[in-house]
Amino acid sequence: MDRRGFLSAGMAAGVAAGMSGLGGAGASVAAALERIPGWGRGKTMADGTLRLSSNENPLGLAPAAREAVIEALIHAGRYPGEFTAPLYPQLAEYVGVGEENILFGAGSTEILQIIVQAYQGPGVPLIMAEPTFEDVLRYQGPLSYHLQMVPLKADHSHDLVRMRELAEVGRRPAVVYICNPNNPTGTVTPARELDEWIAEAPESTLFLVDEAYHEYAEDPAYASALHWINEKPNVIVVRTFSKIFGMAGLRLGYGLAHPDTLDRLRLFTISNNPNILAAAAAMASMEDEAIMAQSLQVNREARDVTHRALDEMGLEYLPSHANFLMHRIPGDLGEYIGRMRAEGIRVGRPFPPMTGWNRISFGLPEEMDRWAGALRRFRTMGRI
Ligand SMILES: Cc1ncc(COP(=O)(O)O)c(C=O)c1O
Repeated sequence: MDRRGFLSAGMAAGVAAGMSGLGGAGASVAAALERIPGWGRGKTMADGTLRLSSNENPLGLAPAAREAVIEALIHAGRYPGEFTAPLYPQLAEYVGVGEENILFGAGSTEILQIIVQAYQGPGVPLIMAEPTFEDVLRYQGPLSYHLQMVPLKADHSHDLVRMRELAEVGRRPAVVYICNPNNPTGTVTPARELDEWIAEAPESTLFLVDEAYHEYAEDPAYASALHWINEKPNVIVVRTFSKIFGMAGLRLGYGLAHPDTLDRLRLFTISNNPNILAAAAAMASMEDEAIMAQSLQVNREARDVTHRALDEMGLEYLPSHANFLMHRIPGDLGEYIGRMRAEGIRVGRPFPPMTGWNRISFGLPEEMDRWAGALRRFRTMGRI
């Protein structure tokens, strides 16, 4: 069944149930969503709290995706396989891979967890940057990896030379986690450097390349590692619908790899992924070309507001190739986070060892104005 078939089957079922699709219960759900302040547009919640802490997309679910979810609810009582099948060819075409290269997870974090489990072994080095996105660190916690943290370089790219030295010790299996662009720094590790290593690495070195922010990267030095997956079974690229498509609450991410690699990962997956609502939203989002352009445009505008405020206050920041940036905080980070919270603004958590910095996720431009206003007040009070 293709997406249109999926949706029209949904409409037919809705009519049969006395609902008439979006004209019935769907319309009232849509209207209810519109009435919830802050739902879908912006990061300001019903109680006025501004969430600039979790790298979510301030636009939320695109209108077409919302409608698709409401229509798909009709199928939610059934197991998803038949309804989610059209997602594979659509994503394959969208990304430029084969259907056999795709594995879905409940967010890309589930794919990270599966990989960490599938490649574990006593003393296997797990090599990652510091600071970087923490989920891999958490998932390896109960396992018997030999964890090796490698500080980012002065330009906040991954220190691939040091990581490679560690991976090559003893020429045994190793897992390397590379987050590109990196969270929390928003910086890019040049594709040229990574490609050089991948080209020469033994197959026993597994490259887990997390491209959650792929769509936002503008640095010409950045390129996806995707072109390796069919040639190199030891390269897995992980991406998500949470960020650029504003689907964080629906939980849909995917791994892209050689079919043999995916067979290994499937030993650790749950059945019946992905769920019907996430699949419906994803299919509608990919169909609507305007969504990505709009997400990127709002992100750029919010970044400009953020840059202007930080420039005005003379606070250093890192170049952002994502939907957040990292900036300096004079004084104590914990106090700064607490003060922002008192203003009703949630900013990023600490990312040691960068304790003199704070990560701020981009909201709408006007929401960044609110954050900038709080920053200015702190400055007037002599607090930063
Ligand atoms: C680098 C990175 N990878 C993966 C994730 C997980 O995203 P999700 O599970 O929503 O796809 C995040 C979320 O913030 C992230 O920053």
